[in-house]
Amino acid sequence: MGRYTVAITGASGSAYGMRLVERLLAGGHEVTLVMTQAGIDVAAYELEFDLPAEEPARALLRFLELSAESPLRIACAGDLFDPIASGSHAVDAMIVMPASMGFCASVAAGLASNLPERAADVALKERRPLIMVPRETPLSLVHLRNLTALAEAGAVICPAMPAFYHRPHSLDDQVNFLVGKVLDLLGLEHSLFERWGE
Ligand SMILES: Cc1cc2nc3c(=O)[nH]c(=O)nc-3n(C[C@H](O)[C@H](O)[C@H](O)COP(=O)(O)O)c2cc1C
Repeated sequence: MGRYTVAITGASGSAYGMRLVERLLAGGHEVTLVMTQAGIDVAAYELEFDLPAEEPARALLRFLELSAESPLRIACAGDLFDPIASGSHAVDAMIVMPASMGFCASVAAGLASNLPERAADVALKERRPLIMVPRETPLSLVHLRNLTALAEAGAVICPAMPAFYHRPHSLDDQVNFLVGKVLDLLGLEHSLFERWGE
């Protein structure tokens, strides 16, 4: 089974990151989740889920309706001593979902000023898969340049762009579509959407 780092930042679409965490854990993978403060605030606003300071993993597992024994660890964005801050801590991939434009800018500039930024910086320097799921529209030239810099440094840019060819019936279908695209990039099997031609 794999070991994944998921970061949820303050872009709209915390539901994507939450569904990804849920699917990875349901697939038996180990997950370290780190949320920026804006990520916590936007998730509270969009999902009505408040990440508590006490036993956050237990609260999130309950919210996701997963077993309390699921291998979820929640790291604190301010804790630069966390294992994911070091390249010597092996992970299979890091996914930033959703990624704010501010977060993309920081990683493109190599700031590493908090734990999720540092973990993304580590993924790039260690040449490990880094999947960024930016969400913003329209995109300014600054955004586009930062995304280009990230792609040049080895990140995969997988924008939160809903599709319609799979004939979604609900928002849930749209969330599943994007999460399924990320699982495809990770090489993990899923049945979150019906594949074209199958
Ligand atoms: C409700 C809400 C929705 C937001 N949506 C986006 C968004 O889709 N994309 C984006 O780049 N920023 C968005 N922002 C702004 C970010 O939260 C803000 O830039 C924040 O500083 C990002 O911090 P972080 O990168 O540390 O998470 C949103 C803010 C709020 C309050």
